[in-house]
Amino acid sequence: MVSLRFLVCCLLFLASSVYATIVSHDGRAITIDGNRRVLLSGSIHYPRSTPEMWPDLIKKGKEGGLDAIETYVFWNAHEPTRRQYDFSGNLDLIRFLKTIQDQNLYGVLRIGPYVCAEWNYGGFPVWLHNMPDMEFRTTNKVFMNEMQNFTTMIVDMVKKEKLFASQGGPIILAQIENEYGNVIGSYGEAGKAYIQWCANMAQSLDVGVPWIMCQQDDAPQPMLNTCNGYYCDNFEPNNANTPKMWTENWTGWYQNWGGKNPHRTTEDVAFAVARFFQRGGTFQNYYMYHGGTNFDRTAGGPYITTSYDYDAPLDEFGNLNQPKYGHLKQLHGILHSMEKTLTYGNVSTIDFGNFVSATIYNTEEGSSCFFGNVNETSDATINFQGETYVVPTWSVSILPDCKTEVYNTAKINTQTSVMVKKPNEAEDEPINLKWSWRPENIDNFLLKGKGEATMRQLFDQKVVSNDQSDYLWYMTTLHLKEEDPIWSKHMSLHINSTAHVLHAFVNGQHVGNYHAENGKFHYVFEQEAKFNPGDNVISLLSITVGLPNYGAFFENDPAGITGPVFIIGKNDDETIVKDLSAHKWSYKTGLSGFENQLFSSESPSKWSGDSVPFNRTMTWYKTTFKAPLGSEPVVVDLLGLGKGTAWINGNNIGRYWPAFLSTEDGCSTECNYRGAYYPEKCQTNCGKPTQRWYHVPRSFLNPKGDNTLVLFEEIGGNPSFVNFQTIGVGGVCANVYEKNVLELSCDGRPISSIKFASFGNPRGKCGSFEKGTCEASKDVVNILSAECVGKEKCSVNVSTEKFGVPECDGATRSLAVEALC
Ligand code: GAL
Repeated sequence: MVSLRFLVCCLLFLASSVYATIVSHDGRAITIDGNRRVLLSGSIHYPRSTPEMWPDLIKKGKEGGLDAIETYVFWNAHEPTRRQYDFSGNLDLIRFLKTIQDQNLYGVLRIGPYVCAEWNYGGFPVWLHNMPDMEFRTTNKVFMNEMQNFTTMIVDMVKKEKLFASQGGPIILAQIENEYGNVIGSYGEAGKAYIQWCANMAQSLDVGVPWIMCQQDDAPQPMLNTCNGYYCDNFEPNNANTPKMWTENWTGWYQNWGGKNPHRTTEDVAFAVARFFQRGGTFQNYYMYHGGTNFDRTAGGPYITTSYDYDAPLDEFGNLNQPKYGHLKQLHGILHSMEKTLTYGNVSTIDFGNFVSATIYNTEEGSSCFFGNVNETSDATINFQGETYVVPTWSVSILPDCKTEVYNTAKINTQTSVMVKKPNEAEDEPINLKWSWRPENIDNFLLKGKGEATMRQLFDQKVVSNDQSDYLWYMTTLHLKEEDPIWSKHMSLHINSTAHVLHAFVNGQHVGNYHAENGKFHYVFEQEAKFNPGDNVISLLSITVGLPNYGAFFENDPAGITGPVFIIGKNDDETIVKDLSAHKWSYKTGLSGFENQLFSSESPSKWSGDSVPFNRTMTWYKTTFKAPLGSEPVVVDLLGLGKGTAWINGNNIGRYWPAFLSTEDGCSTECNYRGAYYPEKCQTNCGKPTQRWYHVPRSFLNPKGDNTLVLFEEIGGNPSFVNFQTIGVGGVCANVYEKNVLELSCDGRPISSIKFASFGNPRGKCGSFEKGTCEASKDVVNILSAECVGKEKCSVNVSTEKFGVPECDGATRSLAVEALC
């Protein structure tokens, strides 16, 4: 007999036969193309890599078991000036979507157009902020008009190329707004009206696929609300007809300048995914699957680093982040194999107490089971249908036939890859790099204090500069008479500032610089300074390091020197303060070296090869180098430099700031995957430069001939250690349980030797494995050497037939291997 539920699903499927349906186990469905219950998706943001990288990244996603690729759309990148659009190079959205289509994957298009995403200003163009009567993300006519204009344009572009699933294309879901539910409370009634407007506006665009609103538990119909977070198994959509969908499963976390490097364990990511599907989930998206790089000035903030690696399954450069990539790939394969049962099965659960439960999906053809143990401290031994099973702490076991465990989230049978950097074999760096330099021309600003516009007020940097540059000069001239009462031995300049970084000069003398501590962007800068009778030129350079991207009204967070600015004279018994805030301030956006395109390979400007200075502020450096041989990803090591921007053959590879060390405390070598994850849980890189290596995409390089590296150094540094390196797998380790298959791969390079191998109960971890108390009878190193050395990959059954029987007194047997590439 065919179950009623099965019928409902088929009817739904027939009714919508052109495209498919994401179906919940209980018959809730949304329409897409073919009945799908297990939809695995991964975020790859097109501007965070290059078009040359896209096919490989997407292919790796597909090989990793993804069904779909998700991306946001980045408004400020596409519309840098109002009604002037850019879809070139890595902004070629359509090409990206077609690359997804070419690989027969689905696409999820999160238009926003507010996106957060640790992207500059959350994706809003700064000109938007400067429009009269503007208020963001509320029922403001000016805002709604611009949002609708951009959203409509994107939808039209995508429709024109027939990329929506309703047109036969890959895109199965579209998103409007982003996590507005997290901030809606701050907008009162207007917030509710705004979200209703968003829903109506999106719906009117008639894309033919469902619209989602993430973190929006009052999403108006027919918007689908979805969950974002580290765990979403408890999530229930606000509408009983909506399948349970997870738009952002954070695979790691982002990094800030001065912050540490966060890691989320493979065991915990797998646990969260398995738990989600155990508890009725249907669509799950990894945020990020490939994080990539914040090139140019795209990093949000303040203080998001140039690297957006995110500890994602594909690392910043597109290499497999193992074991995360492989362990999830196995999980995807198993979940897909159970799709039919998960879609059409009757669900029942058994609660064993102590946070341990079994979920059974049962159809007439067969059943599939999940055993979940959400206890943080104890393993569970359960009895299920007459058999005994051990479910380790904080893990989920999957039994596709409800008898044999084929996967446990905490038992990793995938290799760990140890990535190594290798010197540039095309030349002997850093000694071979010959540097030339030029000063940034700032004399005019320092001595004359003249910019482009003057105003009798201190303005927010966004207002003056429209975010055309990180740099804004604020300059004023102060006439001090000899008889002014302010004269004293200790005179100082006092600035109430929200500049992320500030350089202050008085009469051409650098009186100091300061960078805000992360999170403390309102501060007072006070330094002694020398003033003279007559005219005094005060020149302040304000620098932004990524505009904010998150929170209610984040768009109004001040940036720049918002004042007041005082000069202070202190005598023993008296303090005299002069407020310069309403003085005539002269403004100049940007630096002249940027305007003159000193970074361009064609720049005709003069550079000097003589006495290249070190530790000099506001200095340009240039060198040429040969591209590293081979095809492995390239990084440039900028250790020794302070803060600035780097270009390769005219391509801006982002802000650099190796002088900014991350704080000393809060790192650990051990990382316990058990228990709920939070970004501070497993961090590395304490006390080291926040980011020392910067990605140089291969497509920026000239494989033959010379390449140019230009640096603009802002605070002072030494370029003589700069060198180029390639990144690849240096070695691999694995500890695989008996009855599984060991797969070793050097990702394109041959395995050169087996350094360690033991079948029994080996101890330790990658890099420090040791034999345990029992050991196989055969020579394990020899067997593996014969099967693997000289090959790019090998796979070996971990069994007693292969290696002999170690007498382990019932202890779980495993094979530990360490191989060199
Ligand atoms: C979410 C947001 C994403 C991203 C993420 C953190 O709140 O929707 O865009 O910012 O946090 O990486």
